[in-house]
Amino acid sequence: MNRRTFFVSAATAAASQLSHAQERQNTGMIGVGNRGSHLLQGVMQQPDAKVAMICDIKPDRLDKAATAAAKDNPSTTPDWRKIIDRKDITAVFIATPPHLHAEMAMAAIKAGKHVYCEKPIGVTAAQVRELLAVARASKTVFVAGQQLRSQKQLGEAVRKIREGVIGDVIMVKAQRHATNDIAHDGTSGDWYFDVTKSGGYLIEQSVHNLDLCNWVIGAHPTSASGYGATMLFKNDPPGRTIFDCGSITFQYPGGVHMSFTQNVFHPRGMPNGNQYVYVYGTKGAVDLMSPGAGMMYPMGREGKPSQLAEKQQEDQHAHIAAFYNCVLRGGVSPADITVGATAALTSILGHEAMKQQKVVTWKELGVNV
Ligand SMILES: NC(=O)c1ccc[n+]([C@@H]2O[C@H](COP(=O)([O-])OP(=O)(O)OC[C@H]3O[C@@H](n4cnc5c(N)ncnc54)[C@H](O)[C@@H]3O)[C@@H](O)[C@H]2O)c1
Repeated sequence: MNRRTFFVSAATAAASQLSHAQERQNTGMIGVGNRGSHLLQGVMQQPDAKVAMICDIKPDRLDKAATAAAKDNPSTTPDWRKIIDRKDITAVFIATPPHLHAEMAMAAIKAGKHVYCEKPIGVTAAQVRELLAVARASKTVFVAGQQLRSQKQLGEAVRKIREGVIGDVIMVKAQRHATNDIAHDGTSGDWYFDVTKSGGYLIEQSVHNLDLCNWVIGAHPTSASGYGATMLFKNDPPGRTIFDCGSITFQYPGGVHMSFTQNVFHPRGMPNGNQYVYVYGTKGAVDLMSPGAGMMYPMGREGKPSQLAEKQQEDQHAHIAAFYNCVLRGGVSPADITVGATAALTSILGHEAMKQQKVVTWKELGVNV
């Protein structure tokens, strides 16, 4: 290498380092409990991100997160508005209890920031309506924490079903059962059992499963009817306002329907797994989610089961990588505001049906998705 080449290469390297440093998105983390800590790890692994500020109202969690992110030397605060106020912060992650998401996400979007917002994006139709309007009016990136949308094997299976590999999808049967209630004194015990804060199991957890059902059907439901109750954990913990079980039938366009059950008393080892999504088409069915995920079963006696989508190496932070790819390289959001809003509204519709014990229509939610 001659002297000139050396200087040109050194200058190019410095410029590229500088432009990369400039491009690294200063990121603010709001809520670093169970999920927020996991997201923080994912953000730390992204070459495009720098953790600039961390917020949590619990000092021990704030300290722990600041230590985990020490290489980026973030500042800390118990006041989430400090993150919104910082002009140099371009990306915000929100992993607080669900009833706080919409307010925080709207403030961040209005301040021109890109937002990764945990699911559910809201626990009431009004919250979803307001956030949807603000996000749609903005040019910034929005990713809802519906990370199943970034799983490669699932994505391939859904694509093939939507392309007609089992004919037209005519019915879905799905469940999300758990072997126990979440720990009453656990990390989320202070908000989880209050329906106004979490929305209840269906809205807080099954929003993942319901989003998958919408994705594979290719539509959102038009109505739901159901029944929900607290059968085992009555007033446990004291003051509990969320159900511990429920059954719902969702109607979709064209007579397609989906039957969904939820409970937190499915004993470990009992057949059928805790969670599954069976998709029935005019030519066969697919086991989309359970341990046999991706198996296709053709109709008729001669049909042999086959693997619809092969198991793939999955990056547990693929959804976060996709977020920065959208911010910096114009990628397509894997779970944009429409996906996030539709998923939240589907679970809200189901919850309303279980609560009111009557048919509730999508129109009644009053949100134009
Ligand atoms: N995508 C997923 O697979 C997944 C998995 C788990 C949880 N989540 C979602 O992540 C969110 C958080 O769940 P979690 O299990 O981490 O709960 P958590 O209770 O462990 O964490 C929530 C954190 O938010 C903090 N917080 C509360 N109010 C705040 C405020 N006003 N300002 C700043 N911080 C505040 C709490 O102190 C706590 O540390 C929920 O919406 C949940 O549904 C998503």
